[in-house]
Amino acid sequence: MKSIAVAIDGPSGAGKSTIARAAAGHLGFVYVDTGAMYRTIGLAVCRAGVQLGETEKIQSVLDAGLQVSLRYQDGVQHVLLNGEDVSGLIRTPEMSKYASFVSAVPAVRAFLLDTQREMARTHNVIMDGRDIGTVILPDAEVKIFLTASPEARARRRFIELQEKGEQVTYEDVLTDMIQRDHDDETRAAAPLRQAEDAVLVDTSDLTLEQSMEAVEAVVRRALED
Ligand code: DC
Repeated sequence: MKSIAVAIDGPSGAGKSTIARAAAGHLGFVYVDTGAMYRTIGLAVCRAGVQLGETEKIQSVLDAGLQVSLRYQDGVQHVLLNGEDVSGLIRTPEMSKYASFVSAVPAVRAFLLDTQREMARTHNVIMDGRDIGTVILPDAEVKIFLTASPEARARRRFIELQEKGEQVTYEDVLTDMIQRDHDDETRAAAPLRQAEDAVLVDTSDLTLEQSMEAVEAVVRRALED
């Protein structure tokens, strides 16, 4: 039987991963967090001693037999770097920077493409990222572009960071958010953009629960057709 794919793209802080994970659980689909894969390559590049900006050194890291794979335990995605579970190491501000750096490199995107497509070929997936509906799964049954205003996304991220005890100001978080949006939208390789056939869901004025309901309603409607 042909598998079903739901592609969710959008800028950082729109709630993609929380919403996609919950929706996948409700639908019995596999949640694939592609950002974690870029973060893992970022970790490998960092461990190899490559500094941010040293783009020309990335290819040799990929060529050194690098393997990124996904494993699921109790429905939770774990990402493996050459067999080592690095899921707990990739959610740091430094790895966000490395992920953003490596994600602009076409060879890195090409390197991950097959693994991502293979997951969608063999499982019903909800896959989130920046280029899932436009590049990775252009034939996905459902495409959603999940976004929110920079201010709403920065406010949520600011609260999250405060809860973790990090010393940041809302203004700094907003400035970072706007910079990351700009980098993601203007890079030459697979820039962030809404696929023509994607449904736009704007969560600026929605609670998390309302955002989840909005996304699941789009998915259910599309799958019923
Ligand atoms: O969603 P995230 O913050 O974990 O993503 C980390 C970085 O990877 C972010 O800078 C955007 C990039 N990314 C990408 O370019 N393409 C994807 N499909 C997923 C993430």
